[in-house]
Amino acid sequence: MKVLVATDKPFAKVAVDGIRKEIEAAGYELALLEKYGDKAKLLEAVKDANAIIIRSDIIDAEVLDAAKELKIVVRAGAGYDNVDLAAATAHNVCVMNTPGQNSNAVAELAFGLMVMAVRNMYNGTSGTELMGKKLGIHAYGNVGRNVARIAKGFGMDIYAFDAFCPKEVIEKDGVKAVASAEELYSTCDVVSLHIPATAETKNSINYALVNKMPKGGLLVNTARKEVINEAELIQLMEERPDLKYMTDIMPAANETFAAKFAGRYFSTPKKMGAQTAEANTNAGIAAAKQIVGFLKDGCEKFRVNK
Ligand code: 3PG
Repeated sequence: MKVLVATDKPFAKVAVDGIRKEIEAAGYELALLEKYGDKAKLLEAVKDANAIIIRSDIIDAEVLDAAKELKIVVRAGAGYDNVDLAAATAHNVCVMNTPGQNSNAVAELAFGLMVMAVRNMYNGTSGTELMGKKLGIHAYGNVGRNVARIAKGFGMDIYAFDAFCPKEVIEKDGVKAVASAEELYSTCDVVSLHIPATAETKNSINYALVNKMPKGGLLVNTARKEVINEAELIQLMEERPDLKYMTDIMPAANETFAAKFAGRYFSTPKKMGAQTAEANTNAGIAAAKQIVGFLKDGCEKFRVNK
């Protein structure tokens, strides 16, 4: 059996070593395709792969067509919007993710972005503190929960909205559950986004919603760029010079944001929320174990294309 690790944004070496150990201990062969850039290289590499570990790498119908021996794809991470699930099902390929394995890393970066914003991008002028500010966590999944845990250490007043998470689950963490996204945005000084990119959430962070934020509002996005209605956010930030936007996922309109909103907009050059040795190792080894469990015992825990 051949397991391909296809990561345009490579894992830390320690994670690759750990993945190799798991795969070879199972008697399988590991192939590594990193920083491939060109899709043609991916199409070539998948030809004889029985299993693939990916990150944000795109697995579409063309890749699945080329991967004639493929049985399973594991997205080492949480969001699987980069995999065409219907095409995978049609090709009889199992798709899994590794929920929770990289969530602390993403949550820590959200605070890195928050501190940078409230300290005026470290330009030397007097900023503000996070202590005592109202933090809104938009979606209370694995990352949202880690954000809540860290926010307690900062002394923030914590709120959350999650349409799919019972109020009691949120409140047992000492977090105030609000009834709607609108209430979250109108209540909180800082909103941290942790929603997946789905048909329902794409473009949902729009003018009307963000405009509910109080004066000086800060929006932090370590989720997905697709959930932002970029044209409407640009219009709103033009009208409201008090708003700040910090993101780990560069918008399509990055140049416009950077040119118009210097000092209150920042994007990392490459999505790096999950770029820690710990997160790479946790997610990568979990992916390798899930592949071995699937190929040897038919275990489908964490399958997402049911
Ligand atoms: C995820 O969905 O797990 C995160 O967005 C991390 O993505 P990455 O593996 O591409 O860094």
